[in-house]
Amino acid sequence: MSQAEMDAVTIETPTGDSRILIGAGSLAELGRLVTERWPGARTAWLISDDAVQRAHGPAAAAALAAAGLTVNVFTVPAGEASKSLAEVGRLYDWMLGGNAGRSDLVVALGGGVVGDLAGFVAATCLRGLALIQVPTTLLAMVDSSVGGKTGVNHAAGKNLIGAFYQPPLVVVDPALLGTLPPRELAAGWAEVIKYGMIEGALPDPRPGERPLLPWLETDADDLVRLAEPATTAVIRRCIDLKARVVRVDPLEQGPRALLNYGHTAGHALEAVAGYGGLLHGEAVAIGMRAAAGIAATLDLCPSALVERQQALVRRFGLPERFAGPTPAELWPYMRRDKKATAGALRWVLPTAPGHVEIVRGVDEAVVDRALALVTTRDA
Ligand code: GLY
Repeated sequence: MSQAEMDAVTIETPTGDSRILIGAGSLAELGRLVTERWPGARTAWLISDDAVQRAHGPAAAAALAAAGLTVNVFTVPAGEASKSLAEVGRLYDWMLGGNAGRSDLVVALGGGVVGDLAGFVAATCLRGLALIQVPTTLLAMVDSSVGGKTGVNHAAGKNLIGAFYQPPLVVVDPALLGTLPPRELAAGWAEVIKYGMIEGALPDPRPGERPLLPWLETDADDLVRLAEPATTAVIRRCIDLKARVVRVDPLEQGPRALLNYGHTAGHALEAVAGYGGLLHGEAVAIGMRAAAGIAATLDLCPSALVERQQALVRRFGLPERFAGPTPAELWPYMRRDKKATAGALRWVLPTAPGHVEIVRGVDEAVVDRALALVTTRDA
């Protein structure tokens, strides 16, 4: 594949630009893309997890080596537990023990866990090393590899230690999705559905563009079987939507919070389920149902829109509830969520197809009712 066959999205921010290249087969071009961007680089520190390393590690390492780079590989256990300061320490030991230098590169090959972990290591080791994100899950392609959020979890909550650190290069190869377990793939579609629900509220709207929500409804059959060109086109749109947000709000002080639709209840559910009990995307899908339930109770959202969202959630194989926890168990996690400013929770709520608004001061009884809906076995 030549570089011309890849689509490019660039995010300019005050702390650096991020260039995202999207194209089926682009992993094979990784070495060339990296050495074009950093001609003086000699050593790549490739961080992956055991499952991704088995599936794609040799191809990534071969592409980097073919461009003349020395490749060192570190594999962490797959799963959220690897997003820890202990794992960060092991990675520092590996890199510093191997004489990492300021002109070396960190390559994050994996999903959201590897991207956040390796991104944090790149942001902090030797006060910052060049970072290349190579997302291998749908969720990482459309969300976590783009926009510069890096970090690890703390006992007090998810993603509480971290840094904004833009990856100068992101290489998105949708052909890698073919090896993804079905549950992981479905979890990624949750973030895509999220973009469909919020698109119209995001900065820099493009009035002539095909709206994503009906697009997903029309193309669902092709998308669930990863048919092309449908899959790459949707991934490209989601990356473009995220870029429009990050360009104007790289540090999440304003509209970037809209990307957290479904995440307030979602993060709480993910925490009580025990990380790994619910995948992040599954928790977001359930969290979107809770948010839509709140909006419907407040008469902000027509029931037909709630049903459109849930039909997509079902079509893409996502759960609609997580039975077990009581609302009282979820509240402490929601209050600790970074979206609670000065103690008041900010809910991102749907108001019309493709549109959401941020609402503060929602009555706790209304929230409890929505949480009960998504945590009751027969709801
Ligand atoms: N995942 C939401 C964001 O990057 O802001």
